[in-house]
Amino acid sequence: MTPLHRIEERLHALTFRQAAGLVAGSNLFLVALALALPADGEMRGPALLSILGNFHILALHIPAAVLLVVPLFEFFERHDQATATVRRLSVFSAIGTWAAVLCGIVHAHFNGFAGDAVQLHLWGGIAASAFASLASLLLAKEFRVRLAAQVLAIGVMGFAAHIGGELVHEEGFPFKPNKVASPKKAETPRVVTTSQKRDDYTQVVRPILEAHCVACHGAKKVKGKLRMDSLEALKKGGSEGPAFIQGDLKKSPMHARISLDSKDEDFMPPKDEKPLTKEQVQAIGFWIEGKPIPDDIAKAALAANNSAKK
Ligand code: HEC
Repeated sequence: MTPLHRIEERLHALTFRQAAGLVAGSNLFLVALALALPADGEMRGPALLSILGNFHILALHIPAAVLLVVPLFEFFERHDQATATVRRLSVFSAIGTWAAVLCGIVHAHFNGFAGDAVQLHLWGGIAASAFASLASLLLAKEFRVRLAAQVLAIGVMGFAAHIGGELVHEEGFPFKPNKVASPKKAETPRVVTTSQKRDDYTQVVRPILEAHCVACHGAKKVKGKLRMDSLEALKKGGSEGPAFIQGDLKKSPMHARISLDSKDEDFMPPKDEKPLTKEQVQAIGFWIEGKPIPDDIAKAALAANNSAKK
């Protein structure tokens, strides 16, 4: 008998109550861990835990795929009692989901994630683990109950996975075509430098912020509680209030921070990052003041942007 067979036998020998205790205990452990290791946007060591966290992205696909397969087997086999195949797959997917969520909590805590979407994904993931193990707990029940529990688990997992997909890709994923396939975007010239035709926010300011600020002030990381990936987010602002006040440079933290002395500790972006060029700061300034950005400044600002991306 292999060790795996032995584990299987042990699990099989559990009474319903004992199994319920195991399911509740292991998932409450995830809740406790998520509270003890909050996703607060800080990057931390040790390196091993940071690496374990990265494995979340890899680990999650395996149990997710197995979870999808379980009701297929159930459906075609339609036995009164769950077959050995169904039991093995279901228990494997529950343990695998649990482990993937564990890595996810570690990933968020040690690798600097924060924000509403991250929180939603985190608690959605814990719920997915709870429902996946509930489905294996109900393996002892009749066909319909088992099938319903498995389909429910897939639904919860699908929700958590969707939020996770949006975090890795972008909002709207996977229902958003790529830029080349979407004709509206493809027609927009890359750099429009003639001020009459230009929407300064979308064509100059936003690209600058995307290249230099959004990595720390976006959906995944929300430093200073400030997101800079949309106009609404800038208006909503962060812990110091709105990111800009139209017409008032001094009261606009996003301008104040980029025009400080680069040695100042409040200077943005922080000191390990490439600072904005003079033209980029000017372009943002013109836009906040409500004046059209002069063509030469827009052009120089965007050129610096492109070179920074390389
Ligand atoms: C490497 C990460 C990082 C990058 C890149 C970055 N920031 Fe920040 N930002 C932070 C951190 C951390 C804080 C919170 C600490 C503080 O207030 O200084 C912050 C805070 C801010 C705040 C204050 C928000 C508030 O309301 O408290 C503003 C404004 C800001 N950043 C603007 C910018 C701008 C503009 C850029 C791009 C030019 C930028 N940041 C790029 C990390 C970053």
